Amino acid sequence: MTQHDVTTNAPADLSDEPDAGDALAKSTDAASLARSLARSGEIEADLDVNPGRYRMLTGVRPTGNMHLGHYFGTMHSWQSIQDRGVDTWILVADYQVITDRDGLGPIRERVLSLVADTLAVGVDPQRSTIFAHSAVPAANQLMLPFLSLVTESELHRNPTVKSELEATGGRAMTGLMLTYPVHQAADILFCQANLVPVGKDQLPHLEQARVIAQRFDKRYGRADAARPVFRRPEALLSEAPLLLGLDGEKMSKSRHNTIELRMSADETAKMLKKAKTDSDRHITYDPEGRPEVANLLTLASLCGAGDPQALAERIGDGGAGTLKQITIEAVNEFFAPIRARRAELIANEDYLLQVLAAGNAKANEVANQTLDAVRTAMHMNY
Ligand code: TRP
Repeated sequence: MTQHDVTTNAPADLSDEPDAGDALAKSTDAASLARSLARSGEIEADLDVNPGRYRMLTGVRPTGNMHLGHYFGTMHSWQSIQDRGVDTWILVADYQVITDRDGLGPIRERVLSLVADTLAVGVDPQRSTIFAHSAVPAANQLMLPFLSLVTESELHRNPTVKSELEATGGRAMTGLMLTYPVHQAADILFCQANLVPVGKDQLPHLEQARVIAQRFDKRYGRADAARPVFRRPEALLSEAPLLLGLDGEKMSKSRHNTIELRMSADETAKMLKKAKTDSDRHITYDPEGRPEVANLLTLASLCGAGDPQALAERIGDGGAGTLKQITIEAVNEFFAPIRARRAELIANEDYLLQVLAAGNAKANEVANQTLDAVRTAMHMNY
């Protein structure tokens, strides 16, 4: 067997034991996806009964401004999870910015903008922890033992890394790109998060974190197996993204086909007026046949304009102009309070920095404890 044998999942000393590495390879299978969905449903129900059992971590890379896709995909749930009593951690994944691009961009501005967005959507810094990768050295240090627990072939097979690399359009694979799922595992495991809201494209990363936790405990485990060093994180699966970009293509920061949380009502109207529709004046809700029209109906509906089908019937022969007008009003009304809070927050840089510093301090405390436990398990605590 060569070192590069693609059938080898686990490192040699762990490979003959049942290992979650197999689950890693299969984490995007239909059967595995169905299991993840079912488990996610159970957790969702349990959140109301036992919120204290969970620490939730979510991470966002500060590569641009947050938009409606982010809001309805994930951010809308942060406050409700927090308000149910779940210990909520939001990571500003600044180190991840350099995985698939050469430059950092205006990173400081983007980080502060993300903190403002996070607070504006209702995350309460008294109850929740907002922190940045680069500010937590002990968490990053976990990368070292963790890298010894994964094989190169395993990393190369991660479907998310593959597709993210493809999306960069022919960029070479860097060491960081290849190993960033391990870094993400460090994010999740250092803070002992057991709940990670993800779309299904991120399931392989979560599985990687579980595999690393399992292998660490197996290789260096404490004598007391009932007290593993790491918790096993689980997915809270969010539904597939509901929204397309305003050009009918995939919504993306770089395509400029999105409405950003920070935009004004006028900018929003301008963007929506330019949105692609079709030549049929009679409005119907037909996501397959008329994706662009359906997308506007969905957006208006998410913003409180009622059921998309009923809305379409109401508009009828009113055409795309009426549809856009209704969507503009719905979006602007829905986001007005969030935008007002955001505008106040973004004007107060000192406050944003204070929030981040407090979150960083808390993250460091937990990361130092975890690193201590790791070094103790490895007999490296001198
Ligand atoms: N990889 C995630 C993304 O690209 C961001 C992220 C980094 C993350 N660390 C995390 C998400 C930890 C959840 C948990 O969107």
